[in-house]
Amino acid sequence: MRNEMMSRPVVKPEVLNFLRQQPVPISAQLLKIQQDANTKLIPIIPQETVSYLFQLVAQLQPKKILEVGTAIGFSSSLFVEATHQQAKVTTIDRFETMYNHAHENWQRLGYLANIQLLTGDAADILPMLTDHYDLIFLDAAKAQYIKFLPEVLRLLQPNGLLIIDDVLQGGSIFDPETTIRHRDKGIHRKLNELLTTVYADDTLLASLLPLGDGLLQITKVH
Ligand SMILES: C[S@@+](CC[C@H](N)C(=O)[O-])C[C@H]1O[C@@H](n2cnc3c(N)ncnc32)[C@H](O)[C@@H]1O
Repeated sequence: MRNEMMSRPVVKPEVLNFLRQQPVPISAQLLKIQQDANTKLIPIIPQETVSYLFQLVAQLQPKKILEVGTAIGFSSSLFVEATHQQAKVTTIDRFETMYNHAHENWQRLGYLANIQLLTGDAADILPMLTDHYDLIFLDAAKAQYIKFLPEVLRLLQPNGLLIIDDVLQGGSIFDPETTIRHRDKGIHRKLNELLTTVYADDTLLASLLPLGDGLLQITKVH
């Protein structure tokens, strides 16, 4: 599987190279998992996003984190390490091969007690959740983000932070739809709808960071 975020940066290559070369203080085992995933082109967050999220989570020390898009358990383990194993992470994935691999990784890292895996489609699981989360990280099927938005806002603590990964489609999100390949038109339309909805909502504060394929950060206005 190709990790498209790795090959479609939205910043200058020199900037990206610098960001990708900077180390992040994760454990040697997690670094090995990251390197293996990058070698095998398994879609995990790119290094610049790793660096940003590690610092952010280390600073905020969220107690409860919800993630949509577990893959092999890399980002969920990053959250555990950035909080010195103090956070409880709930993570959702529907792809068995991926979450089985994640389970093996958490077992190897000793993080099974910190992470709860919910298996199935997030579209079915999110409406059933009742807890509230300090940090919610959406990193799954981009065309579904707009559908997930009301649910994740419902689940976000009043002072919580919602982060949505990969919203820029390599920057093509702002190109006219007529220039977009047929198979990408749906994602193009739905990501545009997401950005329009979020920025038009005066109960939300949004900021779009050019990390990876674009990280949309949202808080609620009080
Ligand atoms: C980009 S990967 C997640 C990477 C992971 N957050 C990391 O950086 O380590 C996206 C994952 O989302 C899962 N996914 C996509 N759409 C989903 C959905 N609607 N419900 C549950 N999982 C979904 C895929 O199976 C895949 O494993």
